[in-house]
Amino acid sequence: MSRRDRSQPNPPDAARRDLPAHDELYAAQLEIYAAEFGTLYRRFRQQSAELEAATHAVVHAFVVALGAHDPYTRDHTQRVQASAVTLAGALGWRDGALEDVRLGALLHDIGKTSVSDTILRKPGHLTDTEFQAIARHPVIGAHMIAGFPALEVARPFVLHHHERWDGGGYPDRLAGQDIPPQGRLLAVVDAVDAMLTDRPYRQALTLTQVTRELTRGRGRQFDPDMVDAFLDSSALTLYRAELPDLPG
Ligand SMILES: [Fe+2]
Repeated sequence: MSRRDRSQPNPPDAARRDLPAHDELYAAQLEIYAAEFGTLYRRFRQQSAELEAATHAVVHAFVVALGAHDPYTRDHTQRVQASAVTLAGALGWRDGALEDVRLGALLHDIGKTSVSDTILRKPGHLTDTEFQAIARHPVIGAHMIAGFPALEVARPFVLHHHERWDGGGYPDRLAGQDIPPQGRLLAVVDAVDAMLTDRPYRQALTLTQVTRELTRGRGRQFDPDMVDAFLDSSALTLYRAELPDLPG
């Protein structure tokens, strides 16, 4: 037992001298582990920051490449992103889920960089071969982000935004609740944006016509709950600011 005067301060060295030999060894090992943990943690933080910066750079590169390839899809993507976040908020999605919506919407059409701009801008009807080329873009987009763990959350948006509630969509012909909610959400806002803008093969629909089309597609092309939430949200009014020439 120690005979030390307990009224005096207790410097670490003195404290260690008070310990039995095995406790002293244990304390020394803990100090070493703590130091090693601190070093590993600092290295982990640094590598995480580097990985995050690299992932942002990759996303930026994807978006720039898509914009250069097809300016319409770049602008469409920005509007879809704002509209998707509005709809997700109306559905009660919060925080991390909203961040996932932002990322997923931003990346949802990156697979179109693989589609010839002649096909993307073709004014007339698409041949079967041309349609097949466009219909591959969700799968190709999913492949493009597959090597990046931080982009995994975007996968359901990228892969499933062209599925239909009735099972007639692509690429996996999923139906109803089998379609991930991210895909069901994006299917609505993606279709609305396409309907509200001039396309090479037709002019923009009016807001009234779009509302009618959504109602017609409710439970057929679109998740009925998503349609209801969209029509109850402020998502459509966003388009009045984004597209000032939009007819009523
Ligand atoms: Fe798409």
